[in-house]
Amino acid sequence: MKVVAVYSTKGGVGKTTTAVNLAWEAARDFRVLLWDLDPQGAATYLLDVKPKLKGGVESLVAGRTATANVIRPTANRRLDVIPADAGYRELDLVLDAAKKSGERISRILEPVSRQYDVVILDCPPAESVVARNALHTADLVVVPLVPSPLSMRSLDQVRSIVAEADEPARMLAFLSMVDRRKSTHRDAVRDLPREHAEVSNIVVPSTVVIERMGSERRAVTEYAPNTEAAGAYSELWVRAASLVKAKHRKH
Ligand SMILES: Nc1ncnc2c1ncn2[C@@H]1O[C@H](COP(=O)(O)OP(=O)(O)OP(=O)(O)O)[C@@H](O)[C@H]1O
Ligand SMILES: [Mg+2]
Repeated sequence: MKVVAVYSTKGGVGKTTTAVNLAWEAARDFRVLLWDLDPQGAATYLLDVKPKLKGGVESLVAGRTATANVIRPTANRRLDVIPADAGYRELDLVLDAAKKSGERISRILEPVSRQYDVVILDCPPAESVVARNALHTADLVVVPLVPSPLSMRSLDQVRSIVAEADEPARMLAFLSMVDRRKSTHRDAVRDLPREHAEVSNIVVPSTVVIERMGSERRAVTEYAPNTEAAGAYSELWVRAASLVKAKHRKH
């Protein structure tokens, strides 16, 4: 089982959009579990899953609720979800109070590790115990960057959190919400992949096609396959899979 966390310290940069699209792409070949770690539940909503965690997140962290009991199916038969829960607002505190809190997320995933090939973690923005836990569990951290002076700062912040882990994850950053009418965005597309080893040349444009996900409730490759955004997200999964060396396995 390979774990891919989608994370940035910055909010609203396309993390959830990326998590859902990556999970859907991965599910073409693998059994995938997406864990919505953000109490706002945007990924849960985008996949049309009811946001309700039986027993609450506290009980899951404490090991009183079995992981298998909180997993929900989606319209995609190879993609399941651990939905967000209002109790996630307390997740930082709950994790902090738990024994060996740094390993909690991986311990919660352990019992289902043979049922899934890939786990995608949709992380809340900003530094938190949850984010640190997710980043330290991950084999790969995918970082959407919106072209702006602050985005490189956020890449630096992610890099330093990742580096604290005993076995630091690989990183894959890409430009998200790019508007090529803006010269600053065109400059970022040209320069950032050259200047930073983690930044790939994959570019997800800013487009209404992506905004439609909220009503389509599927991946963009499903409802708008011949668009630049769909091509970019499917390429992003190809790169991610090669970085984590997920073994191909058809079911
Ligand atoms: N490429 C894009 N083009 C246009 N709109 C986009 C694009 N990517 C994301 N959006 C829209 O921007 C908003 C924020 O995206 P998203 O929820 O994926 O970001 P996020 O980083 O997960 O935010 P948060 O930090 O709040 O969790 C959403 O309304 C989404 O539909
Ligand atoms: Mg989000």
